[in-house]
Amino acid sequence: MTMIDTDRMTEGAEVAAELRKKRGGGIPWMVILDGAGRAKITSDGPKGNCGCPAEPHEIDHFMSMLDATRRHMSDADRKIIERELRTYGKKLISSFKPGGGMKAYRDAAGKVRVGQFEAAVALMGQALEEGYGPEKIPTDPALRPLREDAERRLELFALAKKHVRTHRATLVDNHEEGRRIRLEGRVVDQKTGAPLSGAVMQLFHTDASGEYRPGMDAGGGAGNPRLWAFLRTDDAGRFTVDTIMPERYPNSSVPRHVHYKVWIKERPEMASECFFDSDPNLDERTRASAPKNNFPIVKLERTDELRMIGTLTVRVPND
Ligand SMILES: [Fe+2]
Repeated sequence: MTMIDTDRMTEGAEVAAELRKKRGGGIPWMVILDGAGRAKITSDGPKGNCGCPAEPHEIDHFMSMLDATRRHMSDADRKIIERELRTYGKKLISSFKPGGGMKAYRDAAGKVRVGQFEAAVALMGQALEEGYGPEKIPTDPALRPLREDAERRLELFALAKKHVRTHRATLVDNHEEGRRIRLEGRVVDQKTGAPLSGAVMQLFHTDASGEYRPGMDAGGGAGNPRLWAFLRTDDAGRFTVDTIMPERYPNSSVPRHVHYKVWIKERPEMASECFFDSDPNLDERTRASAPKNNFPIVKLERTDELRMIGTLTVRVPND
């Protein structure tokens, strides 16, 4: 096997032009020659040059190149090559193609529209497997009826938790009532303060009426909230969350708070919550015990045109 670099090799372009009669089609381009230097088959397939094969039809053509010329390659070896290419191709396509899983996602939204929630969740799972990011699930208006179905919501949590990949999360759509806030945060080791990258975090809180979902406040609502999102911390353990200021429970003096859970490999699940420094319900006793309870108090200090911004440091114990 010889690789010809048409830019860097002496007379590379001339040799390539001799072999490749058709213009265009991109690189890499491949030709398999017989002993006399005659072309037996090239990477130009029915849909053009298969290049570095990733799409199924490209892999089909590459395999047909092997089949047309192999002499010493066993069926078992051929099978391994095909299997590896198909696995690699699927991964590559879903990671680079922004449209990966888009059709299944749209189909899921269609099922939501006609009230077929079970089918919608199944299609959503397929979309995420195919590479569609779960970031939009908590805010996409098309999914609202599904999100508001308390039973199905837990299935959405599981899907989002499994597939989440960005460190930015938004819990509310534009129609949600409430004062906009942004939490710029970091997840760190409780003891050393070292940033923890790749941590999966779920945040959830009450809405502007102090409820987790209609009619549910402090009791069962927190386990199945209407406003939620998942994120995955970046290389420096950072995250950014856009949401609204949670309201306190109706007829309660419990301060406003945002719940969160954190999952990190080889550590137990961690659950905690943060309060807000400006909250008149945050009494001295709660303030004093906050560090011991690992409840951060967020100061919303800065603001841009859209919202108040505060810093949240999440400290995760190692045991
Ligand atoms: Fe709560």
